[in-house]
Amino acid sequence: MTKQIILTGDRPTGKLHLGHYIGSLMNRVDLQTSYKQYVMIADWQALTDNVANPKKIRDSIFDVLLDYLSVGIDPNQTTIFIQSRIPELAELTMYLLNLVTIARLGRNPTVKEEMRQKGFNDESSSAGFFMYPVSQASDITAFMANLVPVGEDQLPVLELTNEIVRKFNSTYGNVLCEIKPLLSNVPRLPGLNGKDKMSKSLNNCIFLSDDEEVLKQKVMQIYTDPNHIKITDKGSIVGNIVFSYLDAFDKDKNEVAKLKEQYSLGGLGDIKIKNYLFNVLNNLLTPIRNKRKDLINNKDYLYEVINKSSIQAREKVQLNMKKVREAIGLNI
Ligand code: TRP
Repeated sequence: MTKQIILTGDRPTGKLHLGHYIGSLMNRVDLQTSYKQYVMIADWQALTDNVANPKKIRDSIFDVLLDYLSVGIDPNQTTIFIQSRIPELAELTMYLLNLVTIARLGRNPTVKEEMRQKGFNDESSSAGFFMYPVSQASDITAFMANLVPVGEDQLPVLELTNEIVRKFNSTYGNVLCEIKPLLSNVPRLPGLNGKDKMSKSLNNCIFLSDDEEVLKQKVMQIYTDPNHIKITDKGSIVGNIVFSYLDAFDKDKNEVAKLKEQYSLGGLGDIKIKNYLFNVLNNLLTPIRNKRKDLINNKDYLYEVINKSSIQAREKVQLNMKKVREAIGLNI
């Protein structure tokens, strides 16, 4: 049986952090053995909200690639490619844009929420940004992907993709594949400030590439329970980021349960629990950091990975695009 196809990716706008690790990277390492997995570094999509800052995107492409390889995404199993290396994705976007209305795009909750966060409105938002879900539909359908691993917030984009697929197939013939979301059930990782999710733009992240010293500083500044002042005070677990991180990253669940009990009964100090968390995170990040150090000076290898894989990915898309053009009849 041929393997099902997974297409997923990230916008390269900076280094990846623990939120990415728990939300998608771990999953990709697992999935790569059972599926044919494509992971896209979405530089065009990153440009839609970083119009004037292509340098950030350019630099981040290598940061993201390094993060992928350091956590164990294996380029021999997963095809890691750069979006802009596949011009056919832009061609498909041109076709798909005709299959969706302006009103429908305006109703996309993912885009609306992003516009709200970025302070964009109809006047200030570019057409490129507004239609990026169509470009994403093109990324997905160009590979004839079956599965797209996503968090809840991206579900509307996948719904739109399937609507476009159905419209394409009823208009031009059955060529494109509908997709199923592979919903991850991990809760969103809170950021260091304890309020929002971990996100680069909110400046509340632990990055996979943070060194020991930076990690220590960040862990020590974590917000715990503001009412837990003396060691003997009873502490709250709910909303306490130290325990959210331990739940997410400490494999020793029994120990976490014990610490929670001790903390809530009183008698466990913040410094002690933070030191414990530091060790858990440092053990997780040390091999990732080391792998990154090995790779970072090996630019030739990095270029080889990205060049080879992007060519492979493009070949796959070119085969599919032949069918798309034939179906439309624009294959003169
Ligand atoms: N939208 C994703 C993000 O915000 C990146 C992305 C672009 C993507 N194309 C995709 C994800 C296709 C999954 C499938 O980072």
